[in-house]
Amino acid sequence: MGHNPLMTAAPAATTLPAQDDELGALYAHFIGGQRIHAEGSPDLVRNNPAAADQVLGGFRSADIELVRRAVRNAAEAWPKWRNTPAPSRGRILLEAARLMDQHREELARLISLEEGKAVKDSRAEVQRSINITEFMSGEGRRFGGYTSGSESATKFAFTTRQPLGVVACITPWNFPLAIPAWKIAPALVAGNAVILKPASSTPASSVRLAEIYQEAGLPDGILNVLAARGGPAAEALLDADEVRAVSLTGSTSTGRHVAARCAQRGVAVQAELGGKNAAVVLADADLDLATAGIVDGAFGSTGQRCTATSRTIVVESVADALLGRIVAKARQLTVGPGVDETTDIGPAVTAEQRDSVVNYLDVGRAEGAAEVFSGKLGSLPNGYWLAPTVFDRVQPAMRVAREEIFGPVLSIIRVPDAEAAFEAANAVEYGLAASVYTRDVRAIFQFVDRVDVGIAHVNQPTLGGEVHLPFGGVKASGIGPHEQGREAIDFFTKVKTVYINFA
Ligand code: UN1
Repeated sequence: MGHNPLMTAAPAATTLPAQDDELGALYAHFIGGQRIHAEGSPDLVRNNPAAADQVLGGFRSADIELVRRAVRNAAEAWPKWRNTPAPSRGRILLEAARLMDQHREELARLISLEEGKAVKDSRAEVQRSINITEFMSGEGRRFGGYTSGSESATKFAFTTRQPLGVVACITPWNFPLAIPAWKIAPALVAGNAVILKPASSTPASSVRLAEIYQEAGLPDGILNVLAARGGPAAEALLDADEVRAVSLTGSTSTGRHVAARCAQRGVAVQAELGGKNAAVVLADADLDLATAGIVDGAFGSTGQRCTATSRTIVVESVADALLGRIVAKARQLTVGPGVDETTDIGPAVTAEQRDSVVNYLDVGRAEGAAEVFSGKLGSLPNGYWLAPTVFDRVQPAMRVAREEIFGPVLSIIRVPDAEAAFEAANAVEYGLAASVYTRDVRAIFQFVDRVDVGIAHVNQPTLGGEVHLPFGGVKASGIGPHEQGREAIDFFTKVKTVYINFA
């Protein structure tokens, strides 16, 4: 995704909410089971993206000293958690999932307020968080290795899994609940202590999540939340001796920076990075199905997701028919505050992010792409609004066809046939997700075989996935093992091979 969670621009507002503001109070660090306020004037101030004059909360960024304190604290708390049997750890996750279910509307509203997305998308995000936590709770009962025969008649061999210790999870703003949830669930069930560093624009959802875990019975100090603006505190987290693995979701440049830094200490990195996902539409496709999937993929969550459909590669013979349907459907979308039930497209998360997307619209026009649709913004409060936009006749070499935009912008690339479509799908630096719309069995298997992505979809959007299956990309879209699914446990554990000689 297109932002750098280690570096965030200075806040725009300076006033702070009243002390009794329940939401405002979530703007804090969470260390050793308590909300903590660092000393100094607030430099992490969060404006409502749908009403930028309104401040949601603010607090002081973690400095190097606070990072070290949190890491030490986690390392001291860890042995007790390590020695808690995995099925008991799993039971705490199950209770956390139950509590998320109980608080589902409150959580969805919190996500829509601080991130801006439409509340229907926030509800799906809460459901996803529940699903992953529930799935990982079961891993507590499947935790272990395998037994094996030996070359010797008097030896017995097996493998066992052990937690790593303290791990860092660095998460972006676009899924402020679900991405923290899907990183920490496997980390915790595997027996690690976690320092979660959420994006500085959306820290409240992470603090709420940590408190839910606390209420579910997680010992204090095992899940800590530290928000930091600017590099030095984040670098201190990456450099801390106690931190044994780093799982990050963010931009490709951040991921590569973090991986290089961690390589110096021999620490493993799992990084889920950008995407430039294509929906390929072949001549025999069900165009209504394709339209529904493409419009959802391109404009849902304001296009602010790494799996967003930002390219549609369509065979020329059906391109006009598909484009007509896409524009008709996009025209029906309502841009508005995320908390409104009727909103389809919430604001961009920050002014910076909005400006970056607006800049890409200028780039597309200057490159000669045809702007065939630009949605209308009604009368809206002072927020970071973006209208859905469709560019037609985009050439694969254009920047809008190659770079991650991270906003509600769709580029249509017309190609002569399936062969050219598959080639165009792979002609980007990224490799996260892709989908194909066709009824032709041969084309489906050719696509699945050839498309160079981590997640391939057939006749459905490029978005999402199911939490019990691995999620992640190839090429510039990912580093290290994938998240979610049973594979997620691999990253957060070390394997020990044991030989027992009973001669
Ligand atoms: C989704 O497609 O629903 O940052 C999830 C992101 C991804 C998550 C996408 N890591 O957008």
